This record gives sequence, C-alpha cells and structure tokens, in this order.
Amino acid sequence: MSDVAKLSVGEHEIELPVVVGTENEQGLDISKLRRLTGMITLDEGFVNTGSTQSAITFLDGEQGILRYRGYAIEDICKNCDFIDATLLLLNGELPTDEQRADFRQAVIADMHLPQEMEDLIRAFPREAHPMAMLVSCVNALSTHHQDQVDPLDSEQVHRSRQRLIATLPTLTACIHRHRLDLPFVAPNPELGYVENFLTMMFADEQGQYEIDADFVAALNLLLIVHLDHEQNCSTSTVRVVGSANSNLYASITAGICALWGPLHGGANEACVNMLSTIAADGGDVAKYVEMAKDKENGFRLMGFGHRVYKNYDPRARIIKSACDVLLEKLDLDDPLFEIAQALEKVALEDEYFVARKLYPNVDFYSGVIYRAIGIPVELFTVLFAMGRLPGWIAHWQELHASPTKRICRPRQIYTGSELREI
Ligand code: CMC
Repeated sequence: MSDVAKLSVGEHEIELPVVVGTENEQGLDISKLRRLTGMITLDEGFVNTGSTQSAITFLDGEQGILRYRGYAIEDICKNCDFIDATLLLLNGELPTDEQRADFRQAVIADMHLPQEMEDLIRAFPREAHPMAMLVSCVNALSTHHQDQVDPLDSEQVHRSRQRLIATLPTLTACIHRHRLDLPFVAPNPELGYVENFLTMMFADEQGQYEIDADFVAALNLLLIVHLDHEQNCSTSTVRVVGSANSNLYASITAGICALWGPLHGGANEACVNMLSTIAADGGDVAKYVEMAKDKENGFRLMGFGHRVYKNYDPRARIIKSACDVLLEKLDLDDPLFEIAQALEKVALEDEYFVARKLYPNVDFYSGVIYRAIGIPVELFTVLFAMGRLPGWIAHWQELHASPTKRICRPRQIYTGSELREI
C-alpha cells in the first residue's frame, strides 16, 4: 500500500498519511482532516478509531494473538510470575534478578494501609458492592499520599504507582473481610505478593493460613492474563482522564469505574451468575443459547464475544486449561465448569455464533478458578482490577511520555434544535 490515501470530498482533494505499525497494521492519520476540509469523522463506540500509537501490547483479533512488549502471552504465562510481567509492562523489558528483588521488596513494604483507610472500609455498609468500595478507597488513598499527586513529577509518579500496586491486594482483602465482619490481617513482609494477598484474604483469627502452591500459581496466571489489553474501555478511560493531567490515583479510580460495567470487566461476575442461573434451571444450556439469539429478549451470553477477537480469545484458552489442571489436582467437580463447557460446545456449533465469530472471552472461565480458590463472586471484578492495574499504569506513563500528548477531546455532530427564542 502507498504511504498516503487520497480522499475526495466536496471540492477538496486531500492526501491522508498512512501510519504503519510494527506488525504491519495500518491506519489513516486524519489529524489534519478538519483543518483541510472542515469535516470530522464519526465513529460511535470507536469501532474504527485508533486513539494513539502504543508500544505496550499487540493484539491480532483475527488470529487470536496477544503479546506484551513482544512476548507471546503463552510464553509469559509459562515463564513469569505477576511481578515479572508487571515490570515487563512498566519498563519495557523483563527485570534482572536485582530489579525483581528490589521491586518486590519495595512493593511488599508499601502494602500496609493507614489506620484511617481501615476505618473508611469499616464505615461502608457490609452488603455494598466491593467495586463501589474499591473505587472509593483508591481515590481516598491519594488523600494519605498528597506528596504523590503531581502527574508531571516523575519521582512522585514512581511512588504512587508502587503504592497502588502494593495496596490493591490489601484493599481487596480488607473489603472481603469487612463484608464477613472479620478482623483485618496485616501484610507479612516475609511473604510474596500473591502469597500475601491470599493470607490477608483467608487467614484465621490467629493470622494463620496454609499457602497452597497451586492457588498461588493459578492466581499468578489469572493476574497475568488480565494485565493489559491495549485500548480497551477502562484503559482508554485511564488515558482520557490522564490526558487532562489528573493524577495517577484519580485516573486509576476512573479506570476501575469503567471496568465495573458488565460489558467489560463486570462480565466475570455476570458470567458466573448466569451459569448459576442455568444450573438452578436444570442445566438446559440450549435454552439459554436460544435466548441469547433472540433479539427481543435482550439476554446475552456473558463471557462471550469481543470487540476485537473474531477468533478464540487466547486468554480464555489459557484459563480453560488452567481450570482443567486445578480442578483435577484439587479433585473438585465444579458443576458450573461442566455447564460452561457444555454452553461453549453448543454455542460454537450454532450458526448465530459462528456467523458473528463469537467465542468465549477472558471472563468465561476465570470464575471457575476464583471459585476454586474460595473468592466470592462479588469480588471477581476486583480481582480483574488487581490484574489490570499495571496495564493501566503503563498506558498512563506512555501517554505522559509522548511528545505528541494532547488533552483527549472528541468532537460531535450536533443534532439538537436550531436557534430558537424563549
Ligand atoms: N451473546 C449474544 N449475542 C452477542 C453477544 C453475546 N454475548 N455478543 C455479541 N453478540 C451479537 C450482537 O447482538 C450483534 O448481533 P447483530 O449483528 O445481529 O446485531 C453482534 O453479535 C455483534 O455484537 P456487538 O454488540 O455489535 O459487538 P461489540 O463489539 O459492540 O460488543 C461485547 C462486544 C464484548 C460488548 C459483546 O460481545 C458482549 O456484550 N458480550 C457479553 C459481555 C462480555 O462478555 N463482556 C466481556 C468482554 S471481554 C473482557 C473485557 O472487555 O473486559
């Protein structure tokens, strides 16, 4: 393809530069379109709109490929833990032994919460949704770290990103225990990141919890596959908010709000609720497939379909194999896993799903692992946020490092009434 595209509109004949990415994906640079023609582009839901050039994650939805910083997701899952993958995303390269040890130590040291944050969590109604509590907590955290809120000061940004990564597991565990009216468990500097999370979640009144290596491995894997997914809804939100020079805490808070929606990260909770409904209704998966096809019904198969993947989501494949391994090791039969697999089989053979290229996504099987570990369904999206956090931060950093950064401010085509008088 030539490196310009020609556009003829009204009396204008203009050339639009073609931007080519590392993997040969191509886009038209329309940044001068309005200046040259007086027109804007219209693309509701940003189906064809690239908001930025990014070097973090490559995704080929047609082929079902996902790579962080050039490494295949399958390779990363096999060879890294969550901290390694986090550093890869944040810094562009896998850490040296020394960098890994330093980061681990710094993060573990930052895991504790100020007393006032614990009091804040205790003030929430126990039955409130954990995502509502998390959103409030992440924003409130910035009030305790007012020396970390200048987005243009790299030292402050560095400390806030470390604090956020360190604190999300602690907040999650405290929210969980508050809902059960259990005393909070302090982080243990001797334990690793995931081990600390599990202990703070599940330790008994004496602070004792026997760490299960299979749970640690499964959780590392789940956190890694959720780390980043290029310009998805919550990441775009973080970038948009960050583009106004809002601080990192505020930008991440906005990202968590976006993630909560059932069409995005909230689908993991919605999916397990759907599987439970099907189980309670006698396990008739064909009935629910028919309901999902009926446009009048409004019901969708949660955990199915994706804006970008028109092939099997590689994350779903990784999680499904991990489910197999974990359930077998634990000698567990999860009826919801059986229903999920039956549903997948029926849907993948159905013309409606085949024609629309609808496959299971990351949220379809993740709940089976969370359930096996003992994480309640209302906390699933909080776990997604814990995994996605370093991805959001990497994008926020990339935005601020870009020499072409501008405030994100889309335009519109006005369709209201013409000028009228009162
Ligand atoms: N069940 C039934 N039909 C579906 C589904 C589904 N889950 N997903 C899409 N379709 C149909 C849709 O009705 C439309 O049909 P038609 O062409 O006849 O009008 C066609 O497939 C295209 O769907 P769309 O809504 O235009 O696609 P989109 O790219 O705007 O939406 C999606 C993507 C993920 C929001 C959508 O597939 C969906 O609602 N899935 C269920 C929720 C879900 O699992 N979300 C998690 C996404 S992955 C993780 C993440 O983003 O966090």
